[in-house]
Amino acid sequence: MSIKLSSGREIPIEMHKARMVQRISLVPVEERLRAIAEAGYNTFLLKTKDIFLDMLTDSGVNAMSDNQFAAFMNADDAYAGSMTFYDFAKAVEDVLGYKHVMNVHQGRAAEHLLAKVFAKPGDAIPTNYHFTTTKAHIELIGASCLEIYYDEALKTESSNPFKGNMDPEKLRKVIEKYGKEKVPFVRMEATTNLIGGQPFSMANLKEIRKICDKHGLILVLDGSLISENGYLIKQREKGYENKSVAEIVREMCGLVDLYYMSGRKNTSVRGGLIATNNKELFDKIRPWLPVYEGFYTYGGMSMREVGAMAVGMREMVDPAVAGSSVEQIKYFVGKLVETGIPVVTPPGGLACHLDAMRFLPNVPQSQYPAGSLAAALYISSGIRSMERGTVSMDRDKEGKEALADIELTRIALPRRVYTISHIEYAVDRINWLYKHRELVKGLRFVFEPPVLRFFDGRLEPIGNWGRELADAFKREIGDH
Ligand SMILES: Cc1ncc(COP(=O)(O)O)c(C=O)c1O
Repeated sequence: MSIKLSSGREIPIEMHKARMVQRISLVPVEERLRAIAEAGYNTFLLKTKDIFLDMLTDSGVNAMSDNQFAAFMNADDAYAGSMTFYDFAKAVEDVLGYKHVMNVHQGRAAEHLLAKVFAKPGDAIPTNYHFTTTKAHIELIGASCLEIYYDEALKTESSNPFKGNMDPEKLRKVIEKYGKEKVPFVRMEATTNLIGGQPFSMANLKEIRKICDKHGLILVLDGSLISENGYLIKQREKGYENKSVAEIVREMCGLVDLYYMSGRKNTSVRGGLIATNNKELFDKIRPWLPVYEGFYTYGGMSMREVGAMAVGMREMVDPAVAGSSVEQIKYFVGKLVETGIPVVTPPGGLACHLDAMRFLPNVPQSQYPAGSLAAALYISSGIRSMERGTVSMDRDKEGKEALADIELTRIALPRRVYTISHIEYAVDRINWLYKHRELVKGLRFVFEPPVLRFFDGRLEPIGNWGRELADAFKREIGDH
């Protein structure tokens, strides 16, 4: 939610109060320099004792509600037939409109099952934009992930409200080129994670549905961030201003054949699900559930999390929840735009994204500007962000570096966790860093895992720029 002050200024407003808190600390810059070096200049490998604001991700780190904690205590811990699962299935039917649902341990487990059941080597899966784990599962099967966005999607500075739209013309061409038998499904991702949390419009989803119908193709929705996409449709799409987020989410779900989500995001728990109204599709996936995840009524999740997910499912369409990070991101991005910091616009869901190639124009893409910027931001602030650029791409089949379409440093806003003063602090340190951007240079790998290398890879700075940046910080700001 946002609220207008008497001055006319709009600010994000929290529609909740804190009833339990976690102490955080800001270690001195010298400690931060030591910590990032120990972590191989990879923010994933930092320890939380060294982190002030953990803005790595919104996954599994959102604040849960009192009712979700109550559901933890009330959960029915049976291996099979747990009533908590049936409460959860009812919540899925009420909120998303699907009759058939299975839990999985998290979003990538759903991607694994969908790739295993539907894709074959040589297949092509069109998507508005890939997510790292989606692409990994599709490629492990021997299929490929085709990104068919509008060119505007990659313009980091834009006023296009729906940069997450799929280009229907390009989709038609892909179907023509590969033949519909080689396209096991078409995938739409709600607020596309890797291109700056950008939503797609309902009109676009309807158009993609029509093309799928024409060719008899399965349409899959990755709804990990569906409530943000719904909230942004309400704010930005003509004809939806007077619909509730709940109605919009229901309408989106009604347009697709198969739905999956990471429950770590919108439902603020640790789990995932696959749901549909198509019994035939459901029955193709269901036999594999106990093989890879667990029995049908828990699917690899703890029953406590399933109970909390049922509550989170109902809460995620409450505009106070659906808009909680969207409004903070809008405020954050707005502040950075005021001082000319290169940041993805328009603001979307999930995070504030710095455009690392414009922030650090002297760092070539082969030296990972988004990774350098994430490390430099940590040194200058204790804020943990995430590289979403070339480090997050794996090498191609020939082992060649695959340069990312855009280099983003993602500063995530987990739901209901941080406040405006935290954002003001982040804005200040980003501005300081921007003034000293010429100090920051590139990185090179010293250890590179073969798949999803961004998680565990270790890098080193080219030159001694971490030390130089820390020294400049100490001279001008002090230890903290
Ligand atoms: C859009 C999207 N899909 C899938 C996933 C994978 O979900 P999980 O991390 O729960 O495995 C994520 C995770 O961030 C995501 O953002």
